[in-house]
Amino acid sequence: MTTIDADKPRDTVDPKMIDGKAIAKALTARVAEGVRAFHAECGVTPGLAVVLVGNDPASEVYVKNKALQTHRAGMRSFMHMLPETTEQEELLDLIGRLNDDPKIHGILVQLPLPTQLDPVVVTNAIAPHKDVDGLGEVNAGRLSLGIPGLVPCTPLGCLLLLRSVHRDMAGKHAVVIGASSLVGKPMAQLLLREGCTVSVGHVQTRDPAGLAREGDILVVATGVRGLVRGDWVREGATVIDVGITRVPTETGKTKLAGDVVFEEAYPRAGHITPVPGGVGPMTIACLLHNTLEAARLGAGLSAGGLLEADGTVGLERAS
Ligand code: GUN
Repeated sequence: MTTIDADKPRDTVDPKMIDGKAIAKALTARVAEGVRAFHAECGVTPGLAVVLVGNDPASEVYVKNKALQTHRAGMRSFMHMLPETTEQEELLDLIGRLNDDPKIHGILVQLPLPTQLDPVVVTNAIAPHKDVDGLGEVNAGRLSLGIPGLVPCTPLGCLLLLRSVHRDMAGKHAVVIGASSLVGKPMAQLLLREGCTVSVGHVQTRDPAGLAREGDILVVATGVRGLVRGDWVREGATVIDVGITRVPTETGKTKLAGDVVFEEAYPRAGHITPVPGGVGPMTIACLLHNTLEAARLGAGLSAGGLLEADGTVGLERAS
């Protein structure tokens, strides 16, 4: 039997594999081009503020990566690292200042937060037009009502990956495993908007494997490493694995593992995302996209239109 490892570099293009790295690169290049055009038109450089509270090592890696990519796309990055003991009032004060700062077009507060801080209060304190994470009640409400707004980055990235292999998703049964506000719920809204029949499984779902097997499209976002086994996957389904758990290797380093047992799911799937190199790179590319979008809207220009009906992002929809 051939063993397929999501981590191994492949020298030939595998038509089953959804290459998030390549699609994210194309999107980032398109955002960088948009940043240049916006600056030429308005004389303004989009700015993104990222706030990290505490010393969670994984979050530190993510926010540093976000800052690096923001610079690479030609935007300004403002990092705010606050101590673990930060009180809610201090954080709300900082958000208030960032809301009022004209150099800043997007604000992201990295989650999870230390327990003394209420993530709902904190995310709702971000001005809706700067809420590039799309997690506040205004943007979440707009998404559920089908009104244009800022869409959460990870589900938006998943949607673009799905569009790269499905020209039309209308009528397909999409199963989302995981009902978080960060991924599962907004993902379900986006899939509904594509015309899918959507089911959402969560910790209280009686037969999650049976539900998953119904999915022509299966999006898994639980944070439980290896939850989804091969027999959860419908023959020919498109599988999007949002999970990224850091696991130690024999060499003392860590590697990333998904929520799906890749080796088991691959033979049954029609298309599948690897971990790493699938959804992860799309999240940051979509954050950059949302920041440019927020800056354009702030300057009274129309949005770039990532969610336009034809679904192109400088990346074509599947034919
Ligand atoms: N932590 C993990 N993913 C995310 C994300 O997309 N946004 C924020 N704010 N925090 C996260």
